[in-house]
Amino acid sequence: MRVLMLNGSPHKNGCTFTALSEVAAQLEREGIETEIVHVAKKAIRGCIACGKCQTTGHCVFDDDGVNECVDKLKAADGLVVGSPVYYAGPNGVLCSFLDRMFFGKSAAYAYKPAAAVVSCRRGGASATFDRLNKYFTIANMPVVSSQYWNSVHGNTPDEVRQDLEGLQIMRTLGLNMAWLLKCIELGRKTYPYPKREDPVMTNFVR
Ligand SMILES: Cc1cc2nc3c(=O)[nH]c(=O)nc-3n(C[C@H](O)[C@H](O)[C@H](O)COP(=O)(O)O)c2cc1C
Repeated sequence: MRVLMLNGSPHKNGCTFTALSEVAAQLEREGIETEIVHVAKKAIRGCIACGKCQTTGHCVFDDDGVNECVDKLKAADGLVVGSPVYYAGPNGVLCSFLDRMFFGKSAAYAYKPAAAVVSCRRGGASATFDRLNKYFTIANMPVVSSQYWNSVHGNTPDEVRQDLEGLQIMRTLGLNMAWLLKCIELGRKTYPYPKREDPVMTNFVR
């Protein structure tokens, strides 16, 4: 089993990476493979709402790693998305990346457990966490929880390493995700994924 992890910070080895690494180490101890992909240093275009992905399954912009991550997630069993807190929300580059990674493509992600992880210096962690969870909860992805909302505090990796509670939250998250992945793997033999109704879109027009 394999979990895709997205580092949504411009800092490749910063605080978000430190938090993700703690989750990854726990997953690996549980026999789950992990891959951390650094997505948020490049210029990432926002979604242009052309809708092409709804027929092709891929974004029309093929040069910034979004389509690569679409395929990586299709092949993976779970997802963890990490972001630094910027003005009490996720990094804007990461949001652009996720808008394009999820829109028109997320049917393929259904039933893959997912979790968000955030890093902040002082405030805005839970608002950021809530925003990231929106991607999973519109895509039939079970959200994995921990013993607290998944955040670490620090402005540098060293400070994050001093956040012992934050690191424990990350380890518990890794443990819980590994447990859920194994349960799903075992349970699927008896209980296949549910057959859902075709989606209805009323767009608030009555
Ligand atoms: C543009 C910008 C906005 C930020 N906004 C916040 C904020 O609202 N709350 C906060 O606690 N920290 C804020 N920070 C600090 C980062 O969230 C924090 O240092 C984080 O741990 C950095 O993670 P990284 O090393 O993975 O990039 C901000 C940093 C930047 C660059």
